[in-house]
Amino acid sequence: MNLKPWMTAAFIGMAGAACAQDDSTLSIDGEVFVTETKAPEHLENISTIYSGWRFRTPETQALQIDDFDNPAMIFVDQGMDLFNAVDGTEGKSCASCHTDGPEEFAGLHAQMPKVVDGKLMVMEDLINTHRQDVMGAEPLKWSGADMQAMVALIGLQSRGMPMDVAIDGDAAPYWEKGKEIYYTRYGQLELSCSNCHEDNYGNMIRADHLSQGMINGFPTYRLKQAKLISRHNRFRGCIRDTRAETFAEGSDEFKALELYVASRANGLDIETPAVRQ
Ligand code: HEC
Ligand code: HEC
Repeated sequence: MNLKPWMTAAFIGMAGAACAQDDSTLSIDGEVFVTETKAPEHLENISTIYSGWRFRTPETQALQIDDFDNPAMIFVDQGMDLFNAVDGTEGKSCASCHTDGPEEFAGLHAQMPKVVDGKLMVMEDLINTHRQDVMGAEPLKWSGADMQAMVALIGLQSRGMPMDVAIDGDAAPYWEKGKEIYYTRYGQLELSCSNCHEDNYGNMIRADHLSQGMINGFPTYRLKQAKLISRHNRFRGCIRDTRAETFAEGSDEFKALELYVASRANGLDIETPAVRQ
């Protein structure tokens, strides 16, 4: 690995003291989640994939094993209120048409992002396109509380199902682009996603136990920020840490990156909404 000298010093534990992911079992309401499994075939440098939950402290882990303790559930409730709220020129709510409630979307989150009519769509796109086209309502702000509450509500319907995004056919060019971004070194520190999440997972970087950077728990509730964090918001934060200019939330680059990063987690169960430090 090719790291700047002071950066090497930041990765504590590479010389044997590495604390690997723990081996605890994630079980919510008696349902056991797959947090460790064989890596999908397209992954060249990793043979086993792990959920980020396995790298968190017992205190943070505990918040996710009981929905009453999971602070993200308040936001899911807000998402439900929003689902039922009439908005826009057509005088409709989501529930006006989706009369079976969000349960109708079980399984959808596992396949996102996906290509629709030749365009790569992430969940936020589906929600906003819908709001504009069929409700005549204003789009929601990408990382705003309302949007992420809605993404969490729809995501929760797929909790416990394995991630299963398509990377072939129409999706292939987007996936290639996302993969290229993943392995590009950014910023003054010249670090790629892979330098941290592939080469150094299990090690400590400053006070953080590095995971494989999986997105099966998103949107996640971050204790530090006391709110739901979108996938693109997390990408921004990670790129900023390399002291680089970053792509915008909702940009084509981040959508492609999201597809690629999602495909690295194919086989892990969805934990939305997860809790992180
Ligand atoms: C006027 C009726 C109508 C309203 C209002 C409406 N939808 Fe839909 N929605 C549909 C129809 C019809 C489909 C299936 C066809 C399609 O995918 O466009 C659908 C599909 C979807 C899908 C699934 C897309 C897929 O690829 O499987 C999602 C997610 C969705 N709607 C979310 C919402 C949300 C969230 C709201 C509220 C912000 C909403 N919808 C409001 C009619 C509506
Ligand atoms: C300098 C090291 C570093 C780089 C480079 C980096 N990350 Fe991270 N990332 C972290 C740290 C530290 C965390 C918080 C601890 C953890 O979950 O691994 C994190 C967390 C994440 C998470 C949340 C995982 C979870 O389970 O909640 C995702 C997703 C992620 N990173 C994706 C990326 C992507 C995509 C890139 C490249 C654009 C990237 N990271 C680049 C250090 C880095």
